[in-house]
Amino acid sequence: MNFTRTVLAEILIGIVCVPTIGSMTGCNQSEASSTPIGGITPQQFADGVHAVMMADRTVYATHVVTNLKKQDAPVTADEYWQDTEHTIPLPAQMFRMGAELVDENPQAGFTYSLRSEWPLNEQHTAKSEFEEKALKYIAANPGENFYGEEALGGKNYFVAVYPDRAVAEACWTCHNDHPNRGESYPEFGKDDVMGGVLVRIPMP
Ligand code: HEC
Repeated sequence: MNFTRTVLAEILIGIVCVPTIGSMTGCNQSEASSTPIGGITPQQFADGVHAVMMADRTVYATHVVTNLKKQDAPVTADEYWQDTEHTIPLPAQMFRMGAELVDENPQAGFTYSLRSEWPLNEQHTAKSEFEEKALKYIAANPGENFYGEEALGGKNYFVAVYPDRAVAEACWTCHNDHPNRGESYPEFGKDDVMGGVLVRIPMP
């Protein structure tokens, strides 16, 4: 399956097919979808989708969650948003719900998830030796990503792991005060690596 070309072509249609005023030639979607854009490596694909994920996550954390807090708004981000009035999901929950939808979408051609060596939610612990190694690497080498291949259930995957950093004040204040934190939980501060974002792409 040519996942990178198909998915990236879909993404690019949004950019390439902006109709020009006065021109009826426009863009034929099926033609554009089948046009190879060539030479995209799994790493470039992973870097691209990761950039979009992180942009959305940062905007949500900074301009929604932190902004509500600054204004003492009557609506706050809350872990128990589903059962509590006047609340919205936490950034990590937004991220996880998005990841679950992509997981269910057979056309996506990849999956992604949040992981951490210090998870507030056990669901985010490393699931394999590869993941453990990757998390240790990104925590020990701030600013670097971890790339590799992993075999799971007889299939090979390209896996990219990116540091998830404390980009907004809400990140570290909420985590540092959370009741789930264990004794060895770090005292997070600005720009600390709090975990990793993992992008997994099946290899042909
Ligand atoms: C208001 C509280 C709150 C805020 C704000 C918040 N988090 Fe979290 N974070 C949590 C909770 C609670 C979880 C577990 C959520 C779940 O159940 O998926 C979590 C999960 C995570 C995880 C996965 C590992 C784990 O602890 O389970 C990472 C990494 C993470 N957050 C980083 C961040 C970053 C980076 C920001 C800012 C962009 C941020 N968090 C903002 C409370 C918060």
